[in-house]
Amino acid sequence: MAKCCILSVCNHKGGVGKTTTVINLADGLTRLDKNVLVLDMDAQANASHTLSKESPYASQFTMYNVLMDKAKILSTSYQDTRNDKLKIIPGHISLAGAEHELRSSSIVGALALQRKIEGDPVILDTFDYIIVDCPPSLGLLTVNALIASDYYIVPVEASSIYALHGIKFLQEIVEDVKAQANDNLSLLGVLVTMFDHRTNISKALRTEIGRHFGKENVFGTAIHRNTAIEQATLNRNTIFEHSPRAAGSRDYLDIAKEVVRRSEARGSAI
Ligand SMILES: Nc1ncnc2c1ncn2[C@@H]1O[C@H](COP(=O)(O)OP(=O)(O)O)[C@@H](O)[C@H]1O
Ligand SMILES: [Mg+2]
Repeated sequence: MAKCCILSVCNHKGGVGKTTTVINLADGLTRLDKNVLVLDMDAQANASHTLSKESPYASQFTMYNVLMDKAKILSTSYQDTRNDKLKIIPGHISLAGAEHELRSSSIVGALALQRKIEGDPVILDTFDYIIVDCPPSLGLLTVNALIASDYYIVPVEASSIYALHGIKFLQEIVEDVKAQANDNLSLLGVLVTMFDHRTNISKALRTEIGRHFGKENVFGTAIHRNTAIEQATLNRNTIFEHSPRAAGSRDYLDIAKEVVRRSEARGSAI
């Protein structure tokens, strides 16, 4: 039987394309016939605003409830989206206080998500990929996501000279998680986002990102800056729903193929 592959999309910075990558990679994977579950761990719930049918703020079943309520399990908490192969457990504003509550909870707060997934074999049988949208911080929610994951993907924007600032803190957290809680965790790839082949800064940053992480650790596909992606966000659609012929749809389908290739080559999601 196929093994479910759990991916966290993380970067401590906001606005680098994490949520855009989560929703469009998830939709892209469904177009390769994969069943996908998105877990929205961000209090801003942006992925949920795009994918959920109902307002995430009205929902009884959010990642906050799943993490905090011992009785709630993932496989009875996910919701339908407009896409049959794509489900979501939404984020919620109350996740903003979750880090504090997890820290003071009697169970080890950093392991809450991993325990929910391990204790729920149905969820692993139902989905080929579980993709976690992380908040723009390196706090306990991101640590929860990393401890529960097989792989992590780091979007880095090729349009800001600050793109790699502070990246060493993310790498340190990953090393701590690997050493102390999840030696299975590995980098699936760094994803260059907002790439503009016409500008020297984009080209220089792509080279710099390759030098920093090692070229083999950077996805061959870069996500180009594409106004259709911004319009899709405004309309609360994925790029495939909004504009299937846009460059952004091609890029995200290519990255979905690369994610399948890389994860299958390493033995998850066979
Ligand atoms: N490739 C792209 N081209 C143009 N706009 C993009 C692209 N990727 C993301 N954006 C826009 O940038 C903004 C921030 O992206 P988002 O994915 O929400 O970042 P994060 O989740 O890291 O905070 C959004 O408005 C989104 O539409
Ligand atoms: Mg986001």
